[in-house]
Amino acid sequence: MTTRRRFLASMAGAAALGSSPLGSLATSGALSGTGFLEPTRIDGVLEAFRGDARPPREAALDEELWRQVQQAFTVDRGMVNLNNGGVSPAPAVVQEAMQRYLTFSNEAPVYTMWRVLEPQKEGIRQQLARDFGCHPEEMAITRNASESLQICQLGFDLEPGDEVLTTDQDYPRMLTTFEQRVRREGIVLKQFPLPVPAEDPAEVVRRFEEQITDRTRLILMCHMINITGQILPVREVVEMARGYGIPVIVDGAHAYAHFAFTHADLECDYYASSLHKWLFAPFGTGMLYVRRERIPELWPLMASPESLDDDIRKFEEIGTHPCANYLAIGAALAFHQGIGAERKEARLVHLRDYWARALLEEDGVHLNTSLAPGFAAGIANVAIEGMEPSEIVDGLWRNHRIIVTPIGHPDCRGVRVSPSVYTTLEELDRFIDAMRTMARDRTAG
Ligand SMILES: Cc1ncc(COP(=O)(O)O)c(C=O)c1O
Repeated sequence: MTTRRRFLASMAGAAALGSSPLGSLATSGALSGTGFLEPTRIDGVLEAFRGDARPPREAALDEELWRQVQQAFTVDRGMVNLNNGGVSPAPAVVQEAMQRYLTFSNEAPVYTMWRVLEPQKEGIRQQLARDFGCHPEEMAITRNASESLQICQLGFDLEPGDEVLTTDQDYPRMLTTFEQRVRREGIVLKQFPLPVPAEDPAEVVRRFEEQITDRTRLILMCHMINITGQILPVREVVEMARGYGIPVIVDGAHAYAHFAFTHADLECDYYASSLHKWLFAPFGTGMLYVRRERIPELWPLMASPESLDDDIRKFEEIGTHPCANYLAIGAALAFHQGIGAERKEARLVHLRDYWARALLEEDGVHLNTSLAPGFAAGIANVAIEGMEPSEIVDGLWRNHRIIVTPIGHPDCRGVRVSPSVYTTLEELDRFIDAMRTMARDRTAG
């Protein structure tokens, strides 16, 4: 194994020969990759899952298997974190990879970060593109879903009076993005409600279609709605909108690496996701898919040279940025693939069903999320009648050190619960007991 010591020794050797250490190493090929960094270890996790041929739903119930995943994280078990949808902790292997790249970057960033590590990003692009199911030339690596979505939301030329269409359950920052265009350019933002839960894909498509006018220029839709975990029929909406020549920007912030799908299931032209949510990549990582033929007509968020007009990399022209978090996406992808997308989805659904079905037996408790297959996965929204979402959140935190998210939307008031693959059943039992007690106290009082 090439080590840091060997690297330093070769630097010293080059210096002794009187040549420029950097020039010598660069031409000798010693720095053509990151081979002198310690390799990423996927401790035990891959071992436990390798060769497991059971159907995902069966593997999802095997507590021994998931114990190994639970131990791959460095989370503080003094809390029960049931808000993994907000931002996820990364497993130790991802943290280690990130730290290694960061340490190396700091040796001489103009060289180690720009010349050695930055080119390695192309390998990550290929790995991500393969996992998502697209060509690498259609995959941009960004800082988060907000950046990817704003590239699309701000990257189309629009005239005053042009309409952009979305639901009233889309993400606040993405609404703010369109609202700024309303103030700045006089475009029109149209929003409409969706059923909660939405168990009829045709009805969802109908609601989008009935809002279309001859001024509609863009549609923004979620793949998974963050406040309920609802999965929407992306492919059907994209097909419908294509008939009118209207581009659909898909907000997949919560969807990618959460439940199993690839681009072929969606056939969309624009898809954005954060990677620090369900892929468990470092904080500040995201991706943007743009269909190849659509790249030239979409402006980047930060200016790029004309020579990059038809290059997906124009969306990555953001000035100086850290490389370590981008490269550690590779370790997160290896971890994700080691578990397997289908098994991960099945486990997340199992965890959701575990707490949700127990709580549904209580009087005064209801869900704002469908438990029917295909309409949601690991995230669900639960309400206790007569209790404000903030009261539930405060009670869980103050009395039990349990973290959930309040949802104040009038159509789905409740708390959002999002366990992750590292969550134990014992932690969910504590959550169930705490919610039960609150619901019973409320009914008795
Ligand atoms: C639906 C949706 N879109 C976009 C975002 C923005 O993600 P980020 O903050 O990672 O950019 C979020 C974040 O929670 C989200 O839930």
